[in-house]
Amino acid sequence: MKKLKTGVIGIGFIGAAHVEALRRIPGIEVVAIAHSSDAKAKAKGEELGVDRAFGDYRQLLAIKEIDAVHVCTPNHLHCPQTKDALAAGKHVICEKPLAVTVKEAQELVKLAESSGLVTAVHFNIRFYPLMAHIRAMIAGGELGEIYAVHGSYLQDWLFYDTDYNWRLEPEYSGESRAIADIGSHWMDLIEYLTGGKIGEVCADFATIHKIRKKPLKPLETFAGKLLKPEDYKDIPIGTEDYATVMLRFAGGARGVFTVSQVSAGRKNRLYFEIDGSKKSVAWESELPNQMWIGRRDGPNELLLRDPSLVHEDSRDLIGFPGGHNEGFPDTSKQLFKQFYAAVRSGGPSKDPRYPTFRHGLRELQLCDAILQSSKKRAWLPVKD
Ligand SMILES: NC(=O)c1ccc[n+]([C@@H]2O[C@H](COP(=O)([O-])OP(=O)(O)OC[C@H]3O[C@@H](n4cnc5c(N)ncnc54)[C@H](O)[C@@H]3O)[C@@H](O)[C@H]2O)c1
Repeated sequence: MKKLKTGVIGIGFIGAAHVEALRRIPGIEVVAIAHSSDAKAKAKGEELGVDRAFGDYRQLLAIKEIDAVHVCTPNHLHCPQTKDALAAGKHVICEKPLAVTVKEAQELVKLAESSGLVTAVHFNIRFYPLMAHIRAMIAGGELGEIYAVHGSYLQDWLFYDTDYNWRLEPEYSGESRAIADIGSHWMDLIEYLTGGKIGEVCADFATIHKIRKKPLKPLETFAGKLLKPEDYKDIPIGTEDYATVMLRFAGGARGVFTVSQVSAGRKNRLYFEIDGSKKSVAWESELPNQMWIGRRDGPNELLLRDPSLVHEDSRDLIGFPGGHNEGFPDTSKQLFKQFYAAVRSGGPSKDPRYPTFRHGLRELQLCDAILQSSKKRAWLPVKD
């Protein structure tokens, strides 16, 4: 098998997770990384055991033998770095959100599709194996007509007003925060599972901490000592800590979901319930190896992620036998396996489970309609 060579741009939380997942796939080699400065890149390279580490991602793109690039930087860099990577002839996996505006995402879809290169957005939650099982249940009519979809994506990492991150600044994150950051995962998953399209939205946003305290130096500088009031600067916050969105699907189903980054105790919990005319299903990401099946006229079930129990569409996404639990890192491994299989086959993936740049654009369109709806306090259609 020809070894495919890859580079990862932006080695924060998720960039390091990309490197680790890539190392679990035979025939892939991470040959370079790029980070925000030469010194930081060198330190990250040593930490991860990658020899070639650059402070400017263009140096990574200039390496001829690199086949593919993973863009894992803050949101505002996704579009320019992905454009440069495509122009350099690299296949690209871009983190979500694909861009910060619909216009940027449209441009990336156009460029990706005309390039003939393989591209993907890292909507990794689709790759929990039970998601493919639920998708197959719905496609096969097992749930009947879908009446309603409801759920949430809750986190607590921005609970205190002293919690700070680039995601709080629209210049880096875009005009929406919680919806773009985690709502995009929830909506991508629901449209993927149900095959339905969200046609109209009505949103209510809240900014719980209207002023946050930004540390005046990088947090590492303060390591080992408590921060004092003079170590912070007050910053006004305009993006949403919390949002609830009502949904009308094009096919008639109704829905509602809540996102929050200030829900104490909820570390990273995506939850949904899909109610159909025959059955309901429910799943949560913090217990990803099981799903609930609800019945009116019989006992409810708890189905475990076990290759012998799930739909065949889900089987190739399972790396370990039942009871040997899989989780978040396995989802990226499974997505990357599909991506690199497409690279080897010489063209875009035809797998219906695969998240393309069009899915990335779709999330930007949904986010835009939700943002406008929250401003106008009104139901709005989602524009394609
Ligand atoms: N799919 C998922 O589950 C998931 C999870 C987390 C984050 N994300 C996405 O990944 C992206 C990064 O998020 P994160 O949580 O890893 O953030 P992070 O802040 O931990 O990491 C981003 C890194 O990019 C580096 N960076 C900044 N400018 C750069 C440049 N010009 N070149 C190279 N590196 C640069 C920063 O120094 C930082 O270390 C975001 O877009 C986010 O939405 C996706």
